[in-house]
Amino acid sequence: MYKLFFRLVFTRMDPEEAHHLAVRWIRLAARVPVLRTFVAAALAPRYEELRTEAFGLRMHGPFGLAAGFDKNAIAIDGMSMLGFDHVEIGTVTGEPQPGNPRKRLFRLGPDRALINRMGFNNEGSLAVAARLASREAVFRTVVGVNIGKTKVVPEGEAVADYVKSTERLAAYADYLVVNVSSPNTPGLRDLQATEALRPLLSAVREAADRTVTARRVPLLVKIAPDLADEDVDAVADLAVELGLDGIIATNTTIAREGLGLTSEPNLLKETGGLSGAPLKARSLEVLRRLYARVGDRITLVGVGGIENAEDAWQRILAGATLVQGYSAFVYEGPFWGRAIHKGLAARLRTSPYATLADAVGADARKTA
Ligand SMILES: Cc1cc2nc3c(=O)[nH]c(=O)nc-3n(C[C@H](O)[C@H](O)[C@H](O)COP(=O)(O)O)c2cc1C
Repeated sequence: MYKLFFRLVFTRMDPEEAHHLAVRWIRLAARVPVLRTFVAAALAPRYEELRTEAFGLRMHGPFGLAAGFDKNAIAIDGMSMLGFDHVEIGTVTGEPQPGNPRKRLFRLGPDRALINRMGFNNEGSLAVAARLASREAVFRTVVGVNIGKTKVVPEGEAVADYVKSTERLAAYADYLVVNVSSPNTPGLRDLQATEALRPLLSAVREAADRTVTARRVPLLVKIAPDLADEDVDAVADLAVELGLDGIIATNTTIAREGLGLTSEPNLLKETGGLSGAPLKARSLEVLRRLYARVGDRITLVGVGGIENAEDAWQRILAGATLVQGYSAFVYEGPFWGRAIHKGLAARLRTSPYATLADAVGADARKTA
């Protein structure tokens, strides 16, 4: 019934309007104490066996909301109420920006995919920092802050833009993510080259340490699935060299492989990043490659095309300590987080592993 209702309301609307409506509803529900307690009890049950620790942070489970859904940090408690065990806000840029002209988000329903060229529409680091500073958290959710480059800032000043965001936001971040992998900001992905990435990550690390002295803010980098394999290895080596806490793999792809069911040719021609089911194979491949390279030295976060508990389990076996999702939420609706956790707990119980941590990377150990 709920799926039918969900489909009727959301999938007929313009995707971006549907997104804003969903966020408004979720945010509103989380503000009503009785309602949020009821919804959280139904949709965010805690499974003792799924307790997870990543870069020193304790979480109820491994599954979280990927960046891009809550760009301005307005629905953290709402998403926690729906069962996401961590919420990555952003991408936040140094300065506010409107993003690309609409229409910029497209549903490819038959392929369970999305194409977006949002272009980091967000209120900017100052406004988001102010919101986080005044936030009265209802649920104890781990909040990741994902930062990226302001579009109008010249590439030569990119580091300063990331540093500005770090100085403003690090204090509110349980972990910080340097996003160098969205395809919709010209030149951004060039920052993945080690010559550019080394000074960027070093400067963000230094800025985070300078701003937040009471603790060490974990620092992660988020990479694209379109990197050549040797470039994935190079980022992995750099992450180890710099003592990074984690790598998030992957962002959306500019490739158009894995699509075949969407019949509207105009949709297939839209530019932007493709996410959802068609991204599954490559994201998993990149994760496997990273784990083979870094092993347990760096925490890996698997994202891209996760639709169900089995997909999430495969990422864990491949080496991911945390898993994230976005696109399938659009198709599956509010019960999705619960389904993933319930399925993961069941999968773990029937596996040979005593804890989730034992399962991380088990596939790689088997083939070694
Ligand atoms: C509409 C949309 C907006 C996104 N915006 C961001 C963003 O601002 N920053 C970011 O790092 N990733 C962003 N992403 C990428 C997701 O975080 C995720 O890496 C990607 O969609 C793959 O996961 P999925 O297949 O579960 O959606 C966005 C994805 C979508 C669909």
